[in-house]
Amino acid sequence: MDLVAVLAVAFWTMLPAYVPNNAAVLVGGGPPIDGGRTWNDKRLLGDGKTWLGTAAGIAAGASLALLLNVLQPLLDGAVGATLPTFEPAVVVSLPVGAMVGDIAASFLKRRSGRQRGAAFPGLDQLDFVVGGLALTALVAPGWFLETFTAAVLAVVLVMTPVLHVGTNLVAYKLSLKSEPW
Ligand code: CTP
Ligand code: MG
Repeated sequence: MDLVAVLAVAFWTMLPAYVPNNAAVLVGGGPPIDGGRTWNDKRLLGDGKTWLGTAAGIAAGASLALLLNVLQPLLDGAVGATLPTFEPAVVVSLPVGAMVGDIAASFLKRRSGRQRGAAFPGLDQLDFVVGGLALTALVAPGWFLETFTAAVLAVVLVMTPVLHVGTNLVAYKLSLKSEPW
C-alpha cells in the first residue's frame, strides 16, 4: 500500500471513533454523568461530560460504522486498498471506547486540578483513539490485528492529533466550542 492508501484506510477505520466527539459537542448538555459529585473537593468528571452528549456520540459513531459497511462495496478498491468493514462488536467498541477514553481523560484532568475546558496537550488529542483501539483490541482481537497493521497504526497516531486540532479550531470559530482545543 502506498501512503495515500494507508491514509485512506486509517481515516475510514477511525471515523466511527472520531465522530462521537463532534456529535457530543453538537448535542451535549443537560445533567452531567458525575451528577455534580466531587472527590477531594474536585469534580469527578465535570459538567463537560453529559449523558446526552455521550449517548449521542455513541449513537453517531455506531450509525456511521453501519453506513460505512453499506458504502464499502461501492468504494472498495477506489483508493488502491481494501477498506475494512466493521464487525458488530467493532461497530460498538470504536465509539464506546472513544467516549470512555474521553471521559477517563476528564477524570485525570480533574484529579490533576485542571478545570473543565483546560487543555491537556497529548491527552486531549489521543484519549479517544487509545480508548477506541483498546476496547476494540479487547472485544475483537482478530479483527484488530488484521485491520491495524503497523503502518495503519502509525498513520492513525500522527493523523489524529492533526485532525483533532483542526476540527476543534473550526468548532471554536463557529462558536460551537468555548475553547479552541
Ligand atoms: N460533551 C458531552 N459529553 C461528553 C463529551 C463532550 O456533553 N461525553 C460536550 C460538552 O458540552 C463539552 C463539549 O462536548 O463541553 C466539549 O467536549 P470536551 O472538550 O471533551 O469537554 P470540556 O468541556 O472541554 O471538558 P473537559 O475539560 O472535561 O474535557
Ligand atoms: Mg475540552
